[in-house]
Amino acid sequence: MNKKYLVFNWKMYPKSLKEADNLLKMYKEATRGIDPKGLGVVMAPPFLYLNELARKTSSEKIAFSGQDCFWEKEGPFTGEISPLMLKNVGCNYVILGHSSRRQDLGENDEMINRKVKAALKERLKVILCVGEKDSYLEDKNSYLEVGRQLKANLKDVSASSLGDILVAYEPIWAISTSPGACPQDPNQALSSILYLRKLLAQMHSRKVADKSKILYGGSVDSKNIKEYFGQDGIDGVLVGGASLNGSEVIKIFDQIKV
Ligand code: PGA
Repeated sequence: MNKKYLVFNWKMYPKSLKEADNLLKMYKEATRGIDPKGLGVVMAPPFLYLNELARKTSSEKIAFSGQDCFWEKEGPFTGEISPLMLKNVGCNYVILGHSSRRQDLGENDEMINRKVKAALKERLKVILCVGEKDSYLEDKNSYLEVGRQLKANLKDVSASSLGDILVAYEPIWAISTSPGACPQDPNQALSSILYLRKLLAQMHSRKVADKSKILYGGSVDSKNIKEYFGQDGIDGVLVGGASLNGSEVIKIFDQIKV
């Protein structure tokens, strides 16, 4: 069975633990009928709520993820969270390289690469976000940008570790908060993903590239999720904005249940 993934990135929402708790209830309801062997569901709430939400979730149908981590285990790094700390509060995943961190906080490829390696060392699975600023329909060099990110972020990461990485291809212009955002056409998303697979084949082997999981992200909601999930070469989606609305989350699962 080709396992697919649904990753929910809550970003810096909601405002209180109570709201987060209510949202979690909707996720539990939404995931009731799913088969975790065929569908991996990953929820990435803000750090502050992780401990409590993970503690209240015994279901093997929902895995938890941090939205970032630092590259050291512990030390005098004000404001940072280590991969080990995430592990210790019940996370199995961490999102790294999200475009908002790259763009708004100046995270560069080298920093992301250090984080990827540190997270893998701690046996966290990595959701590595890569994506171009402008559509390649407008700028042919856009492809190069995503390729550069992928190669630099996975520098010195072994082929065997790639099994612990979900690449989330998220064109920045398609992310719902970008000005004038619209979801990328699913066929175009597929060709970008094929391009990333080709790069992975160059970096490792065709076999490794074919086995690698590559997701699409950018304005996915209950109305369009099927178009991405239905593509053989797309291994799932990363949902941002729509993950904060409980009834929308239920509709998203309804769309992909077979
Ligand atoms: P979006 O966010 O689904 O709201 O476009 C995706 C993301 O930023 O990860």
